[in-house]
Amino acid sequence: MFSKTILASAAFAALAAAAPAPQVPGYTGADAPYADSTGNGIYPLATTFGPDTTVPATSVSTGGPPNVSEGPLTGPTSHGPFSGTPTTTGAVTAPSTLAASIPALPPNPTATYYNANGTLLNPAPAPYTPAGGLGTNGTEPRYMVNSDFDFESIALALYQEWIELDLFHNGPATFSEEDFLEAGLTAEDRDYISFMANQEVGHATLLTNMLGEAAPIQCTYNYPYSTVREYIDFNQKLTKWGEAGVFGFLNHLDAREVGQMLTQSIAVESRQQMSFRQMLGQPPMPVWFETGIPQSWAWTYLAPYISECPANITRLAWQNFPALHVVNQPNPNRISPNNTADYEVVGNRTGDPSISEIPNEESCVNLNVTGSGCGPAIARNRSEPLSFPGRQVRFTWDAPGQAVGPNNSYVTSTSAGAPAFVAWVSQLNLTYTPLHHTGNNSGFTYQPGGHVYQNDPAVNDTMFVALTDSDLYLTPFNLSMINPHVVALGLYTAG
Ligand SMILES: *[C@@H]1O[C@H](CO)[C@@H](O)[C@H](O)[C@H]1NC(C)=O
Ligand SMILES: *[C@@H]1O[C@H](CO)[C@@H](O)[C@H](O)[C@H]1NC(C)=O
Ligand SMILES: *[C@@H]1O[C@H](CO)[C@@H](O)[C@H](O)[C@H]1NC(C)=O
Ligand SMILES: *[C@@H]1O[C@H](CO)[C@@H](O)[C@H](O)[C@H]1NC(C)=O
Ligand SMILES: *[C@@H]1O[C@H](CO)[C@@H](O)[C@H](O)[C@H]1NC(C)=O
Ligand SMILES: *[C@@H]1O[C@H](CO)[C@@H](O)[C@H](O)[C@H]1NC(C)=O
Ligand SMILES: *[C@@H]1O[C@H](CO)[C@@H](O)[C@H](O)[C@H]1NC(C)=O
Ligand SMILES: *[C@@H]1O[C@H](CO)[C@@H](O)[C@H](O)[C@H]1NC(C)=O
Ligand SMILES: *[C@@H]1O[C@H](CO)[C@@H](O)[C@H](O)[C@H]1NC(C)=O
Ligand SMILES: *[C@@H]1O[C@H](CO)[C@@H](O)[C@H](O)[C@H]1NC(C)=O
Ligand SMILES: *[C@@H]1O[C@H](CO)[C@@H](O)[C@H](O)[C@H]1NC(C)=O
Ligand SMILES: *[C@@H]1O[C@H](CO)[C@@H](O)[C@H](O)[C@H]1NC(C)=O
Repeated sequence: MFSKTILASAAFAALAAAAPAPQVPGYTGADAPYADSTGNGIYPLATTFGPDTTVPATSVSTGGPPNVSEGPLTGPTSHGPFSGTPTTTGAVTAPSTLAASIPALPPNPTATYYNANGTLLNPAPAPYTPAGGLGTNGTEPRYMVNSDFDFESIALALYQEWIELDLFHNGPATFSEEDFLEAGLTAEDRDYISFMANQEVGHATLLTNMLGEAAPIQCTYNYPYSTVREYIDFNQKLTKWGEAGVFGFLNHLDAREVGQMLTQSIAVESRQQMSFRQMLGQPPMPVWFETGIPQSWAWTYLAPYISECPANITRLAWQNFPALHVVNQPNPNRISPNNTADYEVVGNRTGDPSISEIPNEESCVNLNVTGSGCGPAIARNRSEPLSFPGRQVRFTWDAPGQAVGPNNSYVTSTSAGAPAFVAWVSQLNLTYTPLHHTGNNSGFTYQPGGHVYQNDPAVNDTMFVALTDSDLYLTPFNLSMINPHVVALGLYTAG
């Protein structure tokens, strides 16, 4: 007691700026004996930087296994839209298809384990080794896809890694250090994005090795941005569907070994996503849970940005849904997102970023005002939100049958009936709101207000919206059962 009092008063003397407790309402335990051991604050700052003391060291070998070759295209790829005619059309199909959709079943009869008292119920296979788990019986891991499901999922993820590799090089290659500075990003931030490109080399190599010689290779891409802010916004969206696309299938993979390593790479993608949000001055992770989406959704979002692939590339089996356009998409570059004009996005592809070239007096990008500024930051508070529960959200959507993706060789399709609901996929939730029609291919709904758990609004962050013909009850582990009911797919900038 005595020594604690001494320490506490020493701490207050040293940290004159520290406010009296409680600084966090309701938190009364803030009495730990923390002290600034130097007792002299942050000044004076260091003025000399080495040389250091030498420490014991030896020379070690560096290097590692080879990178996958970046496709037939050496160095940077070319960019722009595809103007030719496709030599092949449509998704890959199986030799036969057994039914039009997967019927719903009751719970798995073997899923019955329940432990009410925390004791072990079964013999342990070894000391400190509780019974159960998959891949825990000593079999040697095989880091290869183990079904068509695995192959197509990892092939899709590889298409995504390849575009990221090119995209993260493309920004630093396209925009100057000056351009980045105007968006509030330093030379160190620019190098950080280039480092992310290098991470993609590793991810592409890993996935290629787990697929074998039929692994998809790098393509050429057609990007939507013309400013650094638009580039960062696009990166933020692209990595969002990259992350969510993997979370959607990760726990369904037959090869748990593949899932293990993919988890370890997608954790890095999640960090990239958060960093891009920070570079955009958005709350870095305004949710309690990240979400998962079906593979066909990830492919729908990604395909419009791939313009052309080499002739022998392995094609994918996933569906491309028609695009759902959010007419009044909130613009994160605005001080007042309420004032966003209709179609304030750079184009009509679903992942297109919001326009950043708006009048200075309406832009939050270089505004150094807490609550209103949206320049790069570790964390940001927006006093005027991008969106809010009850906001009217207006949509238009495309008819199916449009050519999309590499060489315009895939075709959008839907097997759903007339659209009646808007499905909101975020965090752990699938929430439906009624669609009000205003025309054959236009309508509106209101942003829902539900919570995941108390105080965690389900709708926040860049999130996934679908137009559906029914409000089928589904949860994260069976969300792909929604696919036969999807009319069109979009992205919504909530927050
Ligand atoms: C704990 O529960 C299991 C079955 O659920 C039962 O067999 C066991 O006797 C219980 N153990 C204790 C200590 O209550
Ligand atoms: C070990 O576990 C795997 C599933 O993880 C199973 O397929 C295999 O049959 C098991 N091997 C033995 C010897 O029990
Ligand atoms: C492998 O890729 C990394 C990241 O781009 C690069 O630094 C390295 O030089 C590459 N290795 C070879 C042999 O090209
Ligand atoms: C495509 O062709 C290249 C060059 O001939 C070859 O290296 C690659 O393995 C082929 N890919 C597929 C999927 O056949
Ligand atoms: C896509 O178009 C390019 C350029 O016309 C062509 O070289 C390539 O073989 C095409 N790829 C496919 C898959 O048709
Ligand atoms: C934005 O619009 C909503 C709904 O009309 C309104 O409640 C809110 O006050 C507006 N925001 C600002 C900052 O005016
Ligand atoms: C997008 O499509 C809508 C109609 O669906 C059209 O009114 C709008 O002008 C288009 N915007 C761009 C940028 O092409
Ligand atoms: C932003 O404003 C704060 C407080 O007014 C000031 O300390 C800081 O230097 C400013 N930052 C920039 C980048 O202008
Ligand atoms: C940030 O927003 C929260 C919630 O609206 C508010 O309680 C807090 O005071 C804000 N902090 C700052 C620094 O503006
Ligand atoms: C809606 O579709 C019907 C039937 O195809 C057509 O007759 C009608 O003109 C369309 N309405 C509008 C507003 O486009
Ligand atoms: C969101 O998901 C949680 C967890 O499954 C559930 O308890 C909650 O009711 C859901 N909320 C909404 C609005 O759907
Ligand atoms: C989204 O999360 C941010 C950060 O926690 C919060 O300030 C904002 O109010 C949330 N938006 C909505 C619509 O709940």
